[in-house]
Amino acid sequence: MHELVAVLDFGSQYAQLISRRIRECGVYCEIIPHDLPASELRALGPKAIVLSGGPASVLEEDHPGLDPAIFELGIPVLGICYGLQLTARMLGGRLERGLAREYGPAAIDIDDTGRLFAGLEDRLDVWMSHGDHVSVPPHGFTILAHTPTCQVAAMGDDNRKIYGVQFHPEVVHTPRGKEILRNFLFTIARCSGEWTMKGFIEESIRAIRAEVGNGKVICGMSGGVDSAVVAALINRAIGNQMTAIFVDNGVLRAGEAEEIRDTFTDVYPLNLDIVNASEKFFAALSGVTDPEDKRKIIGRTFIDVFYGEAARIGGADYLAQGTLYPDVIESRSAKGGPSATIKSHHNVGGLPEDLRFTLIEPLKELFKDEVRLLGRELGMPDSILQRQPFPGPGLAVRILGEVTKENVAILQEADRRVSEEMVKWEGYRDVWQSFAVLLPVKTVGVMGDERTYANVIAVRAVQSMDGMTADWVRMPHELLARISTRIINEVKGVNRVVYDISPKPPSTIEWE
Ligand code: XMP
Repeated sequence: MHELVAVLDFGSQYAQLISRRIRECGVYCEIIPHDLPASELRALGPKAIVLSGGPASVLEEDHPGLDPAIFELGIPVLGICYGLQLTARMLGGRLERGLAREYGPAAIDIDDTGRLFAGLEDRLDVWMSHGDHVSVPPHGFTILAHTPTCQVAAMGDDNRKIYGVQFHPEVVHTPRGKEILRNFLFTIARCSGEWTMKGFIEESIRAIRAEVGNGKVICGMSGGVDSAVVAALINRAIGNQMTAIFVDNGVLRAGEAEEIRDTFTDVYPLNLDIVNASEKFFAALSGVTDPEDKRKIIGRTFIDVFYGEAARIGGADYLAQGTLYPDVIESRSAKGGPSATIKSHHNVGGLPEDLRFTLIEPLKELFKDEVRLLGRELGMPDSILQRQPFPGPGLAVRILGEVTKENVAILQEADRRVSEEMVKWEGYRDVWQSFAVLLPVKTVGVMGDERTYANVIAVRAVQSMDGMTADWVRMPHELLARISTRIINEVKGVNRVVYDISPKPPSTIEWE
């Protein structure tokens, strides 16, 4: 087994970022609920424990806590922000309620240039985000850094190997944050940093074989990168015991089903089964306008189709899908974890409670960029790996209002023109997603001498690292003009195009 760092999650939006940074150091890391008992945590055998930040105040009753025995395990601990405050509080330090929330850039002065801050300058730019602060560290701790308004910007106890920082080393606004994490991981916790994709593949293959034995697996393919990589990985592990199923649900992009067939029969052959179930999906979606309802209906219909296919191939006990780490975190929060629920989306959201398959989700510990690395390691071509993400519910969440065949046809045509123009642009490689959205409003236009009253298409193009945050693409006006002209002139039923200039947060990438 690879060595593990456990990030205990107190509801920080940054818990995943902490995890990413640690993995970037070649150390495998998992986010774990903050209330896991110390005995269970010890059983996981972590080399180090990181306590994340979080929105609560430790000065309030009922704040999320942690099993105090965790501090007695002899495993190095690093508390970040809320994690530091909780450490201070639980080990006997003093905390003060901040008069105002300190949020944004700050400079810390280093009081101890060993251990956590070894090899770094005496003054560091950091990103602060906190209300309360530690005024007196617990017995046995020394102050490692301070700012004029925050006496304890970092503290540590070398004997117990427990440390804490008030700022966020995981965000890019703390330029030397990675070095601080590296000092913790390698100097203090003595991690080896040998986690690689090759190792991950070997371990996954072993685990899949052990779990499935002689059983049969069906793998739901969406045409996106994640499910393609899952299918390739499982195929590597158990060959034709796996059937990859691509469901044409009627809300795909133009030409998608054909593209998938060509790719996975010629370019990267897999045991692929294409099922046309579009009528079933349209019937289920008829009259439905609520985004959450749409997602759930689509999820359920997928599962129905999978049951049918499982029966057709003589029974399959397992369903594999390309759930990624961010999906797991979001569905965990949907089930009452400490962070807020944003949308009940992704593969996990639409599954029925009484699912008759055992789920196999070999990517559920990975981030998107790691999945691409994994695919590369499995010999998959860029034509598959560099595809833009596409949501499981497809165009249904890009048609605001009811999904009808007519609406799908309009959106497919508009979307095809967005894609055709985008791929010609030299900046395309840096675009996370670019697509069209069909709005449920009609506006007045004039074409020739005729008044028109037709649909509006919104164009969305975003840059992102992992889909968790995103910003709209500053694309050239000429490109926007070409997209707009083509859509308005060539797509019947559209007389207006707008460009979405909203970042995530506060908006989301998809409109539903
Ligand atoms: P949002 O809209 O939440 O999307 O900012 C973030 C990323 O996730 C994709 N997405 C989905 N993917 N099933 C999926 O497989 C879904 O239900 C779903 N909803 C959003 C979205 O395209 C973006 O990349």
